[in-house]
Amino acid sequence: MRIIKTKTYEELSLEAANIIRSVIILNPFAVVGLATGSTPIGTYKKLIEWYNKKEIDFKNISTINLDEYVGISYDDKCSYHHFMEENLFDKINVNKENTYIPNGMSNDLKNECEKYDNIINSKVRIDVQLLGIGENGHIGFNEPSDEFIYDTHIVDLTLDTINANKRFFDDESKVPKKAITMGIGPIVNSNIPLLLASGKNKSDAIEKMVKGQISSKCPASILGLNKNTIVIVDEEAGSKI
Ligand code: GLP
Repeated sequence: MRIIKTKTYEELSLEAANIIRSVIILNPFAVVGLATGSTPIGTYKKLIEWYNKKEIDFKNISTINLDEYVGISYDDKCSYHHFMEENLFDKINVNKENTYIPNGMSNDLKNECEKYDNIINSKVRIDVQLLGIGENGHIGFNEPSDEFIYDTHIVDLTLDTINANKRFFDDESKVPKKAITMGIGPIVNSNIPLLLASGKNKSDAIEKMVKGQISSKCPASILGLNKNTIVIVDEEAGSKI
């Protein structure tokens, strides 16, 4: 695991965007795993800026997102579908037919999980998997639990996560209690897992992930098994390592 410490969130975003750009330059057909949440927004802004200057071309890439809430429709501004359109897809030349996000509105969620795994497995590998981290150490929506779950699955969100997500919803009663998430398998087996963390509230999770043992109680700790893992932290998130 390589750890890059930056002073600010802006520098963190620049470092992350640089890595993603390098992956796409080396392989214009790269499979890029994407994440939602506030942390990757600066990275997406940098990528959009370079696209506008014709310094990067997304035409041939495909993207696979980590997760989606269950029961929130695509056009709801709190859905991860909406997030991705607004923060990236509508502003670059990615072919939307090659962008994948789990469907949390499916009537058959079990089947949706299988379908999503089939999509993931149809790719040779995820070339770079962008990740944030929950304050409880979750990645995607792989919550702390007694075991690692390898494949795409439906998850009951923990109270910590539900509380952390409240800030995105006008009406607290609408904060979803369930989500569909890519499992730990494709994340840890991606060519470069790229985890970003910014702010004091992430420092405990980063400490546990970096200094603690690999444990399903801190799902991000599994990234220690992949020697290509890159963790980028700003000063506050990295204050305990
Ligand atoms: C959600 C997402 C995660 C993300 C986490 C942290 O739980 N499912 O993928 O990493 O939030 O979000 P933020 O970056 O806003 O702190």
